[in-house]
Amino acid sequence: MSISKLDALLNQGGGVSGLRVFVRADLNVPLSDGKISDDSRIRASLPTIQKLCAAGARVIVASHLGRPKGQRKTELSLAPVAAELAKQLGVEVHFAPDCVGPEAERAVAALPSGQVLLLENLRFHAEETANDPLFSKALADLADVYVNDAFGAAHRAHASTVGITAFVKRKAAGLLLVKEIEHLNQVLHPRHPFVCFLGGVKVSDKLAALDALVLRADVLAIGGAMAYTFLMSQGISVGKSLVEPDLVSEARRLIDAAKAAGHRLLLPVDHCTAPSLAADATVQIGSEIADGWMGVDIGPKTAALYAAEAQKAATIFWNGPMGVFEVKNFAHGTLAVAEAIANSSGTSIVGGGDSLAAVHQMGFADRISHLSTGGGASLEYIQGKKLPGIVALEKSE
Ligand code: 3PG
Repeated sequence: MSISKLDALLNQGGGVSGLRVFVRADLNVPLSDGKISDDSRIRASLPTIQKLCAAGARVIVASHLGRPKGQRKTELSLAPVAAELAKQLGVEVHFAPDCVGPEAERAVAALPSGQVLLLENLRFHAEETANDPLFSKALADLADVYVNDAFGAAHRAHASTVGITAFVKRKAAGLLLVKEIEHLNQVLHPRHPFVCFLGGVKVSDKLAALDALVLRADVLAIGGAMAYTFLMSQGISVGKSLVEPDLVSEARRLIDAAKAAGHRLLLPVDHCTAPSLAADATVQIGSEIADGWMGVDIGPKTAALYAAEAQKAATIFWNGPMGVFEVKNFAHGTLAVAEAIANSSGTSIVGGGDSLAAVHQMGFADRISHLSTGGGASLEYIQGKKLPGIVALEKSE
């Protein structure tokens, strides 16, 4: 089934001029000391907002920020995001101190055509994540038209991504959401060789993705702490590396499943090891992890092997760091993979905070086919799962 898109919405029934358009964006940006440390999600949200403003809509933007669990938390206010959005749009962005209720209603009523209002963090209300119908209706009552551009939250069945669509008749996917779907479809139906790099701390977090990818990827290269659970499953000693003992048999099963499918699941052949995660810890490189030491990054031989796979790939998907990326001395493997992917002539799709940070840190953003704004959402999408936020936009045919 196909989804309604923004352009169709703008062209049908007199467009959106003067109408209240509720845009669900994903403005969940990392903040440190109240400052936005990565504005990618704000920049990615601009085209839809700009297009709606140009069409004369009264644009009401809503988002979550962090996980305040129904509590009003000052440090998770979207106020700094309103200021940054205004700067990037080059127009004033009004800010409502709540996303429902009299303050939000007043701010919407006062919003002129062609201008933008950002509502306060949706998750200050527990009803948002509970997909509560009354809350969904209260959000819907603010608007005439609904646009979902929050790809990063499309895997969440929340009031602002799903519930609201039962109450607003005219709805569409925003430009970012459609762009994400189009690029990620290239991973869902890849050209071969299809090479995946999966990293991060836990096998348990990525189990569903691993299950799907061992069957679909010609090469699945594993990095990050989760590699040590895989190595342990092969009887390789991993010192005091972070492992999930409960997942060892799953790791063994995945290795066997890859073999049975005729695919290659690659594990690190050498490691950067340290006695602790301290930034100034002594570092050793080698093919073994000594007792009392832990693996903190893939080693240079592994990085070279993984890079060689990237060079042969027609399609690449990468999610998750190869080591403890936030510590400079343990970031080399992640940066090497970023470089190899940037140098590849295949279609490359990268998602997840640390992987994106590595790409940006190396200045390679324009050499990657698509930088996904969704970490969890992109992982679920490429497994072939139906994301509730996208399903909710399907046209009844
Ligand atoms: C993300 O950061 O991946 C999205 O904004 C979704 O956030 P969530 O995992 O808190 O739902």
